[in-house]
Amino acid sequence: MTTEPTIEVHLAPDQLQENLRSDARIGLTATPKWLPPKWFYDARGSELFEQITTLPEYYPTRTERELLRVSAAHVAEATSARILVELGSGSSEKTRLLLGALTEHGTLETYVPQDVSDAALDSAVHQLAREFPSLTVHGIVSDFTETLHNLPRGGRRMIAFLGGTLGNLVPEERAEFLGSVAAVLEEGEQLLLGVGLVTDPAVMVPAYDDAAGVTARFNLNVLSVLNDRLGANFDPTAFRHVALWDERNQWIEMRLEATESVEVWIPELDLGVNFTEGEQIRTEISAKFHVDGICKELDAAGFGSDRVWTDPRERFALVLADRVA
Ligand code: SAH
Ligand code: AVI
Repeated sequence: MTTEPTIEVHLAPDQLQENLRSDARIGLTATPKWLPPKWFYDARGSELFEQITTLPEYYPTRTERELLRVSAAHVAEATSARILVELGSGSSEKTRLLLGALTEHGTLETYVPQDVSDAALDSAVHQLAREFPSLTVHGIVSDFTETLHNLPRGGRRMIAFLGGTLGNLVPEERAEFLGSVAAVLEEGEQLLLGVGLVTDPAVMVPAYDDAAGVTARFNLNVLSVLNDRLGANFDPTAFRHVALWDERNQWIEMRLEATESVEVWIPELDLGVNFTEGEQIRTEISAKFHVDGICKELDAAGFGSDRVWTDPRERFALVLADRVA
């Protein structure tokens, strides 16, 4: 029998609006200008991300899916988790492989997908509850950089953070985030992390600059979010998508570049923002890792006993780490 899924919201619309106002004011008055990537994901942005995952150039999703296919049974053997919490779960598409293995293994009772995008979460929880009738599915709408303390408690939890989303946090945020994940876990509970590895820039850059222009639409969508939610008057046709590999920082950077001089008015902020021709806004970083580097970061945050799976071309890694004392 299928139990109806439930959703808990820890991000009231006025809080979300206040956070966007604050991020837009800080980022668009900074030099150089920047915006946090979480604002990509309104309903259209989440849909565009799903399209990105099917692009021939975007290897991370299919590589991680393949890794999950070969490692899910091993992960299931290495855990006795009763609750799987997934941060930034999106459509939970690849997670099905994990849910299949963890339910077969016999210990999993509850799946808790968490995402800032209520649209993505809502459709995922209903589908998953139908597909996995033996599981309790309980979604949480919240921001994982702000609230982890309202995750379900009770021991024997595994937190999954897949897709390489850790790489979208700047290094200071990343250390703080890993520390907060460790802080909510009890000794012996686990983190399953999926991260992109450093590989050939000739492979990485096209993944963020596809021939069909889907990633460009995803990037430009953040301007539509500012128009819709803050009443701004960005003309997305006056900006172009830029993706580059930053060798020093070991990350892909996405930017939006003004193709002419642009004046924007943001009524909700009572703020005018000017762009000179060629001026750029940084909209996302996507850091790539080396296996020993990510294991050191996990170690510093309070995790250990890492088990690591990589694909044969070493483009992606899954790391299962235990919270240690
Ligand atoms: N895990 C999925 C989706 C990755 S896309 C996969 O591997 O395919 C990144 C997801 O993280 C999106 O669904 C986005 O809405 C969510 N997200 C981004 N920033 C977030 C934040 N600060 N808090 C919660 N969710 C966030
Ligand atoms: C969600 N995140 C891991 C994706 C990435 O690869 O950094 C977002 C993305 N940006 C452009 N394409 C995909």
